[in-house]
Amino acid sequence: MRFSGRPILISGAGRGLGEGIARQLAAEGAIVGVADINGETARAVARSLNDAGGKAHAYQADLGRRQEFFDVAEAFARDAGPLRAVINNASVLVYEPIENVTEETLDKMLSAGLKSVFWGVQAFLAHRDESATGNILNYSSPVAYRGRPNTGAYTTIKAGIAGLTKVLAGELGPRGIRVNAIAPGSVPTPATEGFVTPEQYEQRAKTIPLRRNGTPEDVAQAAAFLLSDEAAFINGAMLAIDGGIIAAG
Ligand SMILES: NC(=O)c1ccc[n+]([C@@H]2O[C@H](COP(=O)([O-])OP(=O)(O)OC[C@H]3O[C@@H](n4cnc5c(N)ncnc54)[C@H](O)[C@@H]3O)[C@@H](O)[C@H]2O)c1
Repeated sequence: MRFSGRPILISGAGRGLGEGIARQLAAEGAIVGVADINGETARAVARSLNDAGGKAHAYQADLGRRQEFFDVAEAFARDAGPLRAVINNASVLVYEPIENVTEETLDKMLSAGLKSVFWGVQAFLAHRDESATGNILNYSSPVAYRGRPNTGAYTTIKAGIAGLTKVLAGELGPRGIRVNAIAPGSVPTPATEGFVTPEQYEQRAKTIPLRRNGTPEDVAQAAAFLLSDEAAFINGAMLAIDGGIIAAG
């Protein structure tokens, strides 16, 4: 029970990797704030965590909007107590050639994937438990290290998150807040369904050093470690959870 009674807010926790870390943390005693633009999935995840004996609250909000993120953090602090951590996981995934990127798509991706990280950090600072160590965990990606064709908007966002994580590790460390990022690699989720076929995932597995794709559980366990007191001196890290993709190229 590494997170017993600790309120932890997760953006985009209605499905995929956000749901995965919500399950892991709830099983280890955290009070989980399941926030998502999709209220139905957020409520379903929170309900299933509560049914399993955990503690969770659901919030529907567009977390790319500053005021909405603040409103959620305020409501969660009221429901669960001052925050111990925020997990900036929300994102919108689109892969497409550079000339196809529309203003509408770029605005949506930047808002959900990058602006929400700024608002998540600010809302956490406004509603955190000042008497305890704080934790911010950002979701980057192996694409932050590589120039993969047709991922312009997504890679820009994930590389931005990698940079912001380092900045905040230095800026917020003196206030007792650890800021880290993870880079999950090749994990089938609802987001990737439209862009990577099962056959392509099989092909990918053959080139990943550990010879398989990842699972939400792989990501959740490593993410939980970074949030735990076992990682008390880890600040500004980018942890690859990718079976060796970044290392091997
Ligand atoms: N799946 C992978 O292989 C992989 C690899 C590297 C990094 N990641 C990162 O992990 C994170 C989760 O990825 P996933 O595959 O689970 O994605 P996903 O699309 O399955 O889940 C994202 C969630 O965010 C929510 N969301 C989107 N816009 C929002 C907004 N404006 N406000 C609130 N919620 C919003 C969605 O409704 C959804 O529930 C992302 O940051 C992604 O970039 C995933």
